[in-house]
Amino acid sequence: MSPLPQTAPVITIDGPSGSGKGTISRAVARALGWHFLDSGALYRAVGVAAVRSGADLADEQALARLALDADIRFEDRIDSEPHVWLGEGDISADIRTEEAGQAASKVAAQPAVRAALLAKQRAFQVAPGLVADGRDMGTIVFPEAELKVFLTASAAERARRRHKQLSEKGITAILPALLREIEERDLRDRTRSVAPLVPAHDARTIDSTTQSIDDVVAIVFAWAAPLKR
Ligand code: C5P
Repeated sequence: MSPLPQTAPVITIDGPSGSGKGTISRAVARALGWHFLDSGALYRAVGVAAVRSGADLADEQALARLALDADIRFEDRIDSEPHVWLGEGDISADIRTEEAGQAASKVAAQPAVRAALLAKQRAFQVAPGLVADGRDMGTIVFPEAELKVFLTASAAERARRRHKQLSEKGITAILPALLREIEERDLRDRTRSVAPLVPAHDARTIDSTTQSIDDVVAIVFAWAAPLKR
């Protein structure tokens, strides 16, 4: 009897924006020497492509076609956010704005867009393993993942972190406005009919409100250690 094909192991890290999942996922991927999928960057790129093409952000079929056809290219980087191109244009910085986040969350609420991006995300599951960061990695995209983490933090703490991150980049932002945007986006992500932001039934939850990034990385890394082949 021939052995079953080996699939690369997956760790999913889901949670709302600002929960620290990007930094933590990347640190865990680096420590394990695995690949990293920033699925939010994919939705952000589709959001930017939709706004640039003048698409109606409520036109599900037009957005799904765009998600399938747009020439979006990703360069997976373990030490920084991924480099993303739309056609010939480098949109790595454009996808990080709050407007791109809002556009991403609107296109992401369309079931056909999510379906269109499923195969693109699953293609990242290659040896020696994958750490996937998003909202529905453990519930929809990689339901068979070996380890599922759901990361939370209070909205106020997430707004504070985002504010710090933006000011480090020299971008001025108003804290109460950031908090309002985070709450709006959370509500849309949690209440949408398709792939809402909920923990997988078999996910382990960490509340990072009062924990440092290093503490959370240490917890996830300890859980992940048995998966390293
Ligand atoms: O994680 P990030 O803030 O970059 O994601 C931007 C938006 O993309 C989220 O607010 C969410 O609406 C959407 N998203 C999603 N599913 C994912 C990743 C992101 O719906 N797996």
